[in-house]
Amino acid sequence: MDSNEDLAQQAEDKNIPQHVAIIMDGNGRWAQLQGKGRVAGHKAGVESVRAVVSHARKSNIKALTLFAFSSENWQRPAKEVSVLMDLFMYVLTKEVKRLHKHNIRFQVIGDLSRFSDKLQKNIAKSEKLTEDNTGLVLSVAANYGGRWDIADAAKKLASDVKSGTISVDDINEHSLHQHTCLAELPALDLLIRTGGDYRISNFLLWQAAYAELYFTDVLWPDFNESQFEQAIDCFDQRERRFGKTGEQARNEET
Ligand code: IPE
Ligand code: IPE
Ligand code: MG
Repeated sequence: MDSNEDLAQQAEDKNIPQHVAIIMDGNGRWAQLQGKGRVAGHKAGVESVRAVVSHARKSNIKALTLFAFSSENWQRPAKEVSVLMDLFMYVLTKEVKRLHKHNIRFQVIGDLSRFSDKLQKNIAKSEKLTEDNTGLVLSVAANYGGRWDIADAAKKLASDVKSGTISVDDINEHSLHQHTCLAELPALDLLIRTGGDYRISNFLLWQAAYAELYFTDVLWPDFNESQFEQAIDCFDQRERRFGKTGEQARNEET
């Protein structure tokens, strides 16, 4: 068996999350520990992105959603923001062909209107290239905020009411959900945060309602395939009850 088949077999035996999201935190502190500037941490973090994408693909995870830049990150020093934008552009240009080769569908979620025209065009081009791919769905959250996502969905519903497509009574959890980001993907199963903090930082607020949460002290540039596997193993041990009793949940499993 080659290593890919191996992983696929393990996946069959294990309860693999269908949709994993990661708050990739700790780049700045990683760089500081190395006596380098924060930017070096962001650059090193790109290697961890490659590792988790590859591992998600081999493990038959259906959707991987990565938090790359929050709506609050604009408040950072202009120089750091500008480096992050350049890095984003560089990675898009360099990596998307490889994603395409591996049948990965790539998309960016967030309010893209604040990005430069050049970056927006590059994102659109990358999404278009990979839109028919049937493998892993890789979503990168950029200028994303969970509150923005929910407010944006509400705005779309309001506009549907205004145009007469739906009535006020059609507004419910289901219809609002349909307008939030990632609605077409399996529900979020596992939310990982690296970097040692225990918070959501305005990431997938709506989508994380019943996600299992996994926090690790490992700083993002040190997060690799084996760290990812540890998180998946931990998920495998969790009992998800969705409000029911443990007994009910266990009976449903069999
Ligand atoms: C995460 O690492 C990357 C982004 C938020 C863009 P940080 O840059 O937040 O690293 P720390 O938290 O300062 O160590
Ligand atoms: C969350 O990390 C955002 C990303 C990883 C892109 P932050 O470093 O911005 O979060 P806070 O500020 O510590 O909450
Ligand atoms: Mg941080």
